[in-house]
Amino acid sequence: MKKFLAAVGAAAFLTVGLANAEQTLYEKLGGKKAIDAVVEDLTNRMMNDKQLKRFCGNVSKDKLKTNRELVAAFICKATGGPCEYKGKDMKEAHQNLGITEKDWDRFVELAKQSLNKFKVPADVQKEFLGAVAGLKDQVVSKK
Ligand code: HEM
Repeated sequence: MKKFLAAVGAAAFLTVGLANAEQTLYEKLGGKKAIDAVVEDLTNRMMNDKQLKRFCGNVSKDKLKTNRELVAAFICKATGGPCEYKGKDMKEAHQNLGITEKDWDRFVELAKQSLNKFKVPADVQKEFLGAVAGLKDQVVSKK
């Protein structure tokens, strides 16, 4: 009986391990609804942030919504989800905005706050923020 239980335990462990290995980052984040929620929260934080609100000022509600949808679709696709992204590439979208290193650091800080709010596990946050870090060169203005 002990042996049997050990075998069942080992099989369960292996199954969970394999299932995790096959999960995309999109799935680990909790799918499109979870990504939408994080993006909405992060956008709100940016709009109310002393340092970053200058990028969001004077923007109509419609434009904000479209932008949120584009960001969510981009993240969905980039993390292996079933979305189409029809927006600009990251360099084109950001190069004329004058985003500094300091802005970037603040953005990452706010992103962590949003991920924490929705209880995204630490290892998934790390993987996600690692992927986002790969975009820094395209987002921060070179001057
Ligand atoms: C400091 C960090 C960032 C700031 C201040 C920022 C700001 C902005 C602003 C103001 C726009 C609107 C541009 C326009 O209407 O012409 C925009 C567009 C966009 N951003 Fe960012 N962004 C940042 C980082 C990122 C990151 C890390 C991602 C991806 C995960 C991202 C994804 C997008 C997308 C998909 C668009 C829409 C592009 C389009 O209009 O086709 N942004 N961003």
